[in-house]
Amino acid sequence: MKFFVDSAEVDAIAELNDLGLVDGVTTNPSLILKSGRDILEVTKEICDMVDGPVSAEVVALEADAMIAEGRKLADIAENICIKVPLTLDGLKACRVLSGEGHKLNVTLCFSANQALLAAKAGATYISPFIGRLDDQNIDGMELIADIRTIYDNYDFETQILAASIRSANHMKEAALIGADVATAPPAVIKAMANHVLTDKGLDGFMKDWAKTGQKIL
Ligand code: E4P
Repeated sequence: MKFFVDSAEVDAIAELNDLGLVDGVTTNPSLILKSGRDILEVTKEICDMVDGPVSAEVVALEADAMIAEGRKLADIAENICIKVPLTLDGLKACRVLSGEGHKLNVTLCFSANQALLAAKAGATYISPFIGRLDDQNIDGMELIADIRTIYDNYDFETQILAASIRSANHMKEAALIGADVATAPPAVIKAMANHVLTDKGLDGFMKDWAKTGQKIL
């Protein structure tokens, strides 16, 4: 499973990039707001740092305007992936822009039928939002599993990008189901390294090592 970082914070992305844990980045208007940065500038900085696709989201609601915005975002760098919402206008923009050879991430997916439409519109990625479904007492992981089955039934090439991930456990479950990609906030990716028994074991080793009086360097 590929790891995308769901953030527009350059320092946080760089820290994970240095660990080799960044296969791509996803941003959205809320994350741009949180960063306090200009969308074109910060997206360019992220694109220059990361080898993989960087999703940048259009904000128009009508297809022609989405297409124009998508083309402008694509001009930022070669690794831009244009993000459009899962509406009929978004699907139309997806069809046109993917036909021009751009990578497309269709976002705000909350049903298997929406994912089926995105695949038929030529999406590179479909982004089902797990956490926001869980917030509504609907099992977000069940949606990932349904989309996996449908895409495999018909050999769709669209990749499942599990999004709105809120915990390390979400990462594990998305990997078990077979999501192609999971995008998560930096804190969630770092939390995957945590285990209480690792901390306890390391503490024990350090105490015993101190008692030996030895040094390696
Ligand atoms: C994905 O591309 C979205 O930016 C993101 O995962 C949304 O997550 P949220 O529901 O935590 O805002």
